[in-house]
Amino acid sequence: MNFPLPDGRIAVVPSVLSADFTRLGAELRRVRPHSDWVQLDVMDGRFVPNISFGPHVGAAVARASGLPVDAHLMVERPGDLVEAFARAGCGLITVHYESRGALAALKKIKSLGLRAGLAVKPATPLAGPLRLLPMLDLFLVMTVEPGFGGQKFISGMLPRIKAVRAAIKKSGRPVWLQADGGINAETAPLAVRAGADSLVAGSALFSSGNLVEFTRALRGSRGGR
Ligand code: DX5
Repeated sequence: MNFPLPDGRIAVVPSVLSADFTRLGAELRRVRPHSDWVQLDVMDGRFVPNISFGPHVGAAVARASGLPVDAHLMVERPGDLVEAFARAGCGLITVHYESRGALAALKKIKSLGLRAGLAVKPATPLAGPLRLLPMLDLFLVMTVEPGFGGQKFISGMLPRIKAVRAAIKKSGRPVWLQADGGINAETAPLAVRAGADSLVAGSALFSSGNLVEFTRALRGSRGGR
């Protein structure tokens, strides 16, 4: 499935990690009308202290959601998993700058004709990751420590989002700036005003009593009328 390019919209991206896995298909059908794509939070229990799911779940998510899928690889050796998630139907694969072989993994993603994303943990200086901007389609600024849903948004990440937005603007390239972690109706406007245009939401989205209202609030995060 072709992956959308930045076009001025705010992309709302449910994180499957927070879905009710006893009825995953129904959950994905429920969020589909309100979402731009979905994100798979892939965790290996080594890079982060949690284990989530593999490519077989990714394939099921791609089928059931009917949406583009981005795989956020929070794993020690992302290059080992790129082909499996490509075969599962992920149109964009994001690797962590801090993981082993990140650059080789990005090159492999591009060689497969997929969109490539780079994620950075809160404590990682931006200088190194931003040097890879010319090969990226998405830059993910983590607004929590990776590993678990339901954490509190780290507002100290806002200057980092701003700095990445400035770098993307200077590059003149169409790169999504994704914020992931603790995104809700209150924190989304902060992230968007700092420069994010793709918002990953897990716990707040799947627990929302009114998806229309919630996703409208996220899309309207630029404020104003
Ligand atoms: C952390 C995960 C979470 C998840 C979003 O590793 O990446 O950030 O996607 O979860 P919430 O929206 O519940 O913070």
